[in-house]
Amino acid sequence: MKKITIAIDGFSSTGKSTLAKQLAKHLGYIYVDTGAMYRAIALFAMQNNFISIDSLDKESLVKALPNIKLQFHFNADLGYAEMYLNDSYVEKEIRTIEVSSFVSRIAEISEVRSKLVEQQQEMGKNKGIVMDGRDIGTVVFKDAELKIFMTSSPETRAQRRFEELKAKGDVVSFEEVLQNVQERDYIDTHRADSPLVMADDAIEIDNSYLTREEQFAAVLELSEELINSL
Ligand code: DC
Repeated sequence: MKKITIAIDGFSSTGKSTLAKQLAKHLGYIYVDTGAMYRAIALFAMQNNFISIDSLDKESLVKALPNIKLQFHFNADLGYAEMYLNDSYVEKEIRTIEVSSFVSRIAEISEVRSKLVEQQQEMGKNKGIVMDGRDIGTVVFKDAELKIFMTSSPETRAQRRFEELKAKGDVVSFEEVLQNVQERDYIDTHRADSPLVMADDAIEIDNSYLTREEQFAAVLELSEELINSL
């Protein structure tokens, strides 16, 4: 059976990773969460005091990039891979609101983007991959057979993220989460290098009023049609 490349892009907290994981599991494909890679670099910058609320030592971070090792290790219990930064398990640490508040500024740095894009292209060179992010269909895999662009209102997305954080025990307010979602949308869509835009050949899915099941069924059907037509 021939394999395809599936690119899933869109705004934060649109449920990209949930859909991508489900799809990869069903098709027996590799799933890659590229946001985790940007988050791991943001964590590294925090750990080394390269970033704070009002400063960013871009030069030191860029100089340190060759020493940053990012790896995904498959967790058989969960059914997907988890993020390791320089051999340390960081899956939990990269999901905090603090990392979320710094990561868009890290993702603006061209040197960071080119390092990660190269690694992502290497991971997908044999196809059979579902990758989610912001620039997968426009930069990383311009030739992906299937490109999905996911949207939903900022309030719906903030509510989802707020519930996720609360379930993990993080103390945050809904307003704080909404503000973070809106700030990230702004930075992600306005940065000079690889801004978040929908690829011309992407299919847009606004999931404000779709259940997870409906959304999964629709994208699975599209994927299977494409795979069967090869
Ligand atoms: O999907 P996420 O929220 O985990 O992504 C974290 C941040 O990383 C997000 O603010 C934008 C950035 N990002 C990016 O610029 N390009 C990608 N391919 C993935 C994420």
